[in-house]
Amino acid sequence: MKLSEIILRRRSIRKFLDRPVEREKIEACLEAARLAPSADNVQPWRFIVVDDPQVRLRLAETAFTGIYKLTRFAAKAPVLILILAHPDILANKLGKAVQGTQFYLLDIGIAGEHLVLAATELGLGTCWIGWFSKKRVREFFSIPRKYDPVAMIALGYPDTTPLSAKRRKALSQIVRYNTFGWK
Ligand SMILES: Cc1cc2nc3c(=O)[nH]c(=O)nc-3n(C[C@H](O)[C@H](O)[C@H](O)COP(=O)(O)O)c2cc1C
Repeated sequence: MKLSEIILRRRSIRKFLDRPVEREKIEACLEAARLAPSADNVQPWRFIVVDDPQVRLRLAETAFTGIYKLTRFAAKAPVLILILAHPDILANKLGKAVQGTQFYLLDIGIAGEHLVLAATELGLGTCWIGWFSKKRVREFFSIPRKYDPVAMIALGYPDTTPLSAKRRKALSQIVRYNTFGWK
């Protein structure tokens, strides 16, 4: 598949087949993430892959409760990948202080999207998850404070094919050449 096809095909999948994902495929997705660029090449990402159904259910029970109930669909994803950031002191303190940008969040986003696109190429479905209890996930894995559990990705064989077109702003709304030009 050409990259343009993979990008078009990738949709958020929230319904999965009850079929395990082969470890080789998970590894291929992680390898794509590993090769992502990052500010100052600090590679701040860490991944906890949860593919044991018991662990996944216990994790989902704690991560997707209360105001996070909307994310319960992810409990049925065969794999949940927690992406943590281990921000580099220099790159991130300096980046934040001087540039006002949390570079590690950009890095995590790029790596996660590499993972998601690789999964799409392999016929897998994914959904980015930002809406989960970070506090309870931190407790669940006993994650020290210097790591930030930024996002999760639900992964599995899709049990649905989104037919609607992607709802996106037109290029004319989001692009200007050589000038600023928004209100
Ligand atoms: C950083 C990030 C966090 C997201 N968090 C959630 C989430 O918690 N729950 C959810 O159902 N979808 C989540 N999504 C998926 C978006 O809702 C989805 O990408 C968007 O509606 C566009 O649809 P598409 O992915 O099918 O193109 C998230 C996406 C991103 C990039």
